[in-house]
Amino acid sequence: MTHSGRDNWGSRIGFVLAAAGSAVGLGNLWKFPYLTWDNNGGAFVLVYLLAVVIIGLPLMMSEILVGRSTQLSPVPAFTKLGGRRWSGVGWLGVASGAVIQSYYMVIAGWSLRSFVQCLGWSIKGYVTPADGDFDAFLSNGSLQIGLTLLFTLFTAIIVYRGIGGGIEKATKVLMPALLAILLYLVFTTFTMEGRNEALAKIFIPDFSKLPREGFLEAVGQAFFSLSLGLGAMIAYGSYLGKKESIFKSALWVVVLDTIVALLCCIAMFTIIYSVPGLQNRISGSTIGMLFITLPDLFYTKMPGGILLGPLFFVLVAFAALSSTISLGEVTTSLLIDQKGWRRSHATLATTSVVFIGSILAALSLGASGILSSFSLFEGKEGVLSTLDHLAANWMLPTGGFLITLFVGWKLGRKFCMDELGLEKPNLAFTVWLWIVRVVAPAAVLILLINVIMGKDFS
Ligand code: TRP
Repeated sequence: MTHSGRDNWGSRIGFVLAAAGSAVGLGNLWKFPYLTWDNNGGAFVLVYLLAVVIIGLPLMMSEILVGRSTQLSPVPAFTKLGGRRWSGVGWLGVASGAVIQSYYMVIAGWSLRSFVQCLGWSIKGYVTPADGDFDAFLSNGSLQIGLTLLFTLFTAIIVYRGIGGGIEKATKVLMPALLAILLYLVFTTFTMEGRNEALAKIFIPDFSKLPREGFLEAVGQAFFSLSLGLGAMIAYGSYLGKKESIFKSALWVVVLDTIVALLCCIAMFTIIYSVPGLQNRISGSTIGMLFITLPDLFYTKMPGGILLGPLFFVLVAFAALSSTISLGEVTTSLLIDQKGWRRSHATLATTSVVFIGSILAALSLGASGILSSFSLFEGKEGVLSTLDHLAANWMLPTGGFLITLFVGWKLGRKFCMDELGLEKPNLAFTVWLWIVRVVAPAAVLILLINVIMGKDFS
């Protein structure tokens, strides 16, 4: 890639939608509702929202700032601004990206199965799946690998062709469509009897019910959902024009991402509390909640569900795709920028390496005994859950911690003021700077230490 005459996003809205496309994905639709369920609701959501405001937004601005000022992808960006010592932060990001990508593909593959399943129900009529149906699907190894491979190929083709025109154009149509369908789902569920119970569960915090690890998971989820901590926003920010406001762009992405997560959670919890017997079906595998709860709604409660069922899972697949592409871009552009590889070779190499990880994750849902019981973290069994926990709750916060220190102290006040287009520091800037310098890194550090210590004493 040459850096003179680099592409820019067509407009701020182009950047916002592509960045939101990266942020909005399985993190919002799949992971947020199931983590909220596993961590007993309200208190988890409150910690999550605090993490989004206190750490997420300032860090999003920091990443965009680094990308925009260097017009480079993460590793060379850190090298240019901070010397070789700081390039390690970029490398950590690339490693996190590869880890996330490897298991993300497996979950993304489930959306393809749900799409085909819904298509069948739309044509032949709905049959309520038996208890344990989803677990049987999870432990079907060849099916898991096949779906993962399919999704990996879709991603590789787009990354190979470069993200230019394609992804920006696609997200402009897909993101609004997804939001519209989600709103329609929420309105429909608002007539259902489980609504109040669901809202109470999500919005009334009870800290006695939040497990200690839940704090870390909430903060980790904020990083994951907003695509922070690995430099994805550095890469996207590097195509942002100098005139666009970093604060407004970041704010839009954060708000959109959070709204989608909350809406999805509200819809799913309402259905779970309204449909008798549904709790039994999700009890074994809350990680499959998205794929278990919503079809029930489409086919038993919603006018037009026959159409919306398959359509919804197409959109889920696209939301996942716009995220896997940006993850793939982070790893692939490293080989291109750093090693001078051709894009075709770089894509092939990263895709193959990541796919090996995907195979292990795909077989860790029941198909292989050893892989399924593999565990590094208490309560997280199997390669897939372990990789997810490792990347989201440890690697991304560590990356984010280092990025905030880098921007706050190494780049410093003057540099940031110039980038944010300020002549004199105003109050908002001063607040932001001290959050980036002290509050955000301290919060992450205290949290990580607490969890490490907590583990030792338990
Ligand atoms: N934010 C994405 C989601 O919510 C997943 C993700 C995490 C991601 N880190 C990323 C995507 C970095 C792109 C780049 O599904």
